[in-house]
Amino acid sequence: MVRAADRDTVDPVALIRTHDGDEAAHLVATGGRLRRVARDMAVDLSKAHIPEAGSTPAGVRLGVLGSDSDSIAVAAAAALLPGHVDFGIWSGVDRFHYWSQLLAGEGPCGSVLHAPSRVLRDQSGAIVGAVVVTHMAASEWWSGDPWIPEIFVVAAFQGRGLGSLLLGHAMRTCSHSGHRRVGLTVSEGNPARNLYERFGFRPFRTTWLIERSAGR
Ligand SMILES: CC(C)(COP(=O)(O)OP(=O)(O)OC[C@H]1O[C@@H](n2cnc3c(N)ncnc32)[C@H](O)[C@@H]1OP(=O)(O)O)[C@@H](O)C(=O)NCCC(=O)NCCS
Repeated sequence: MVRAADRDTVDPVALIRTHDGDEAAHLVATGGRLRRVARDMAVDLSKAHIPEAGSTPAGVRLGVLGSDSDSIAVAAAAALLPGHVDFGIWSGVDRFHYWSQLLAGEGPCGSVLHAPSRVLRDQSGAIVGAVVVTHMAASEWWSGDPWIPEIFVVAAFQGRGLGSLLLGHAMRTCSHSGHRRVGLTVSEGNPARNLYERFGFRPFRTTWLIERSAGR
């Protein structure tokens, strides 16, 4: 869920990121290959549809995020099956390095906010989901409010309300801490967008990521 270009490890000369749909269409028409379309979405927490905190379903428990980035990286990989629109964006990316940087607050999304971030574990203690919330610095396109660079539930546990549980915890905690907005990025075609819209997130920016052969 990180911003479009942040996971990219291919030759930067050949990878173009634009927020201009006309430019994206031109690049594709002149030989570029559309690699990803990503929507940045945000929710105004005063208008969000956040469910009341309920009891955690049997067989799982919510806990602090901690710093075991390797275990989280393994679990996150188990959330993305072949055929998922985001499966390919990890190609060539060192997941362990990515998660280690993210949890250390050294990535582009800023330092981790520990109260809204959570891991979900099964009865054996294995990680089956997580939500990471960071303090994304203010910029020309973002207001400096919390950001959700990652949320996942391992495939075998999906569709049972656990993603809603994680997102609900993150948003309630941000709201109680006085934050006004929360943002995230979702790829075009990811059914997770339904979940975010249900909670009140709306798209505010689109990123097209286009590969071109160097020199074209
Ligand atoms: C997105 C994700 C965290 C949702 O967790 P979940 O436990 O499946 O979600 P819930 O059961 O609480 O809610 C299901 C909602 O999520 C959406 N969804 C996304 N992926 C889904 C999946 N594989 N199975 C079922 N629902 C999924 C559904 O559209 C559904 O929305 P709806 O109830 O409005 O129709 C989880 O499916 C996942 O990890 N997906 C792969 C990684 C990913 O895409 N992460 C988000 C990157 S932006």
